[in-house]
Amino acid sequence: MAHILIVDDEKNYRIVLSRILEDAGHRVSLAENPFAALELLSHEGVALILSDLRMPHMDGMAFFQRVREEVGDVPFIIMTAFATVETALQAMKAGAFDYLMKPFQNEEILIIVEKALTFARLQTENALLRRQLETSIGQEIMGQAPAIRQLLQDIGRVAPTPTSVLICGESGTGKELVARALHRSSPRKAAALVTINCAAFAENLIESELFGHERGAFTGAIERKRGLVEMADGGTLFLDEIGELPLPLQPKLLRLLQEKRFRRVGGTAEIETDVRVVAATHRDLQAMIDAGQFREDLYYRLNVVSLQIPPLRKRPEDIGLLGLFFIEDYARKLGRPVHGFSAEALRLLQDYSWPGNIRELQNVIERGVLFCSGEQLLPEDLPDIFRKDNVTAEPRPLPPLEFNKPLPEQLDEIEENLIRRAMVQARGVQAHAARLLGISRSNLQHKLHKYDLGSSKFSSAEQTVPD
Ligand SMILES: Nc1ncnc2c1ncn2[C@@H]1O[C@H](COP(=O)(O)OP(=O)(O)OP(=O)(O)O)[C@@H](O)[C@H]1O
Ligand SMILES: [Mg+2]
Repeated sequence: MAHILIVDDEKNYRIVLSRILEDAGHRVSLAENPFAALELLSHEGVALILSDLRMPHMDGMAFFQRVREEVGDVPFIIMTAFATVETALQAMKAGAFDYLMKPFQNEEILIIVEKALTFARLQTENALLRRQLETSIGQEIMGQAPAIRQLLQDIGRVAPTPTSVLICGESGTGKELVARALHRSSPRKAAALVTINCAAFAENLIESELFGHERGAFTGAIERKRGLVEMADGGTLFLDEIGELPLPLQPKLLRLLQEKRFRRVGGTAEIETDVRVVAATHRDLQAMIDAGQFREDLYYRLNVVSLQIPPLRKRPEDIGLLGLFFIEDYARKLGRPVHGFSAEALRLLQDYSWPGNIRELQNVIERGVLFCSGEQLLPEDLPDIFRKDNVTAEPRPLPPLEFNKPLPEQLDEIEENLIRRAMVQARGVQAHAARLLGISRSNLQHKLHKYDLGSSKFSSAEQTVPD
């Protein structure tokens, strides 16, 4: 069913046409002249316009122009008597969808109308696809924070070079996104970006996955297999979770980086390959080196350039922007009319510490858009931990002393409770609370972070706590 507007100065035509179209299941609006039609179009959307050509005061062509200027790309069908077919053809050249010659057959009208509606639907779909494409290519890495702008600049600077890049950041901060951006902005973009997650393979499998194997190299190796390194020739090899690469394999990777050569498992031939290596990790590789879990020489080779992605809690100014971006994205995907969040919901999002970073934000918004019943995301659309009553500074009553939980857990509960009390009593002033607790301020900050007790939660408690 579509909403169709018929514009004709002859009443009989209006009646006949509307009957045919209504019988076919469409909703029809009628106008006896272009002025009335433009009036209607100023406050109602239509899927198609059928307009007579010859009308007093404003003819169909002039009306068509006005529609283009004022309404946009609505499919437009011109109806005309034989004598003015020339003009109808002109209208089509100007962009009208089709023309109908009067008098017409019912069948003919329905066919042309369906054709126009299908065409319009396809156009809308295409426009949507184009928009999705634009957002995924143009602004994949969103963010206004200085650290993100710097990151984008650095990506632009190192992408064109063959240099190895190490991407460091907590889980969900966008490491893979950055790896893709590096590949896409490099001269290797036409070749493959091959990704391997080093944490996803057992130690004995990862070598043959990376370097391939010869026939008979091990039980089950019934034929020669090319490895990912070979497949990435001319392109980029993205080694995700590089911290999980087993120690025995690390010299092989080092050799690939230094000499651009490798051997397949069970093979003797030296194979040359031209890959640009990008690695990512959420681990502290320096600490792993100290613990003997990661080779220092490989680290330096990978870490020629390192890109640090800050955790979301270090760039709270981006929470709103990213949140809005995800709201639009999910509203479109889930077909929900959600357009933003209430000020209160935004404040809750900004106060949260986001241990799962952008991925967590994305999940919270997806769920929120699903639950949201209006046009704005509200606090009640967020998971329980965001709800004000749950993050209030009010200390909970001390749990009874029982042997129902392990000691460390009980101690944590008591500690958290005492910290809440101290923060409330100190009205959110950390130095004061630290004194009450008899610990240093940095120790207190560490514990506030551990229990996810942001200071802002306590400044709002200020008014509610009596002296
Ligand atoms: N700056 C950003 N703008 C828009 N979306 C982002 C941004 N950073 C990350 N995302 C989105 O957040 C999600 C997580 O990103 P990604 O998978 O790149 O993180 P990661 O650091 O590789 O995580 P993990 O360590 O868990 O593998 C993805 O859906 C990604 O599209
Ligand atoms: Mg990742």
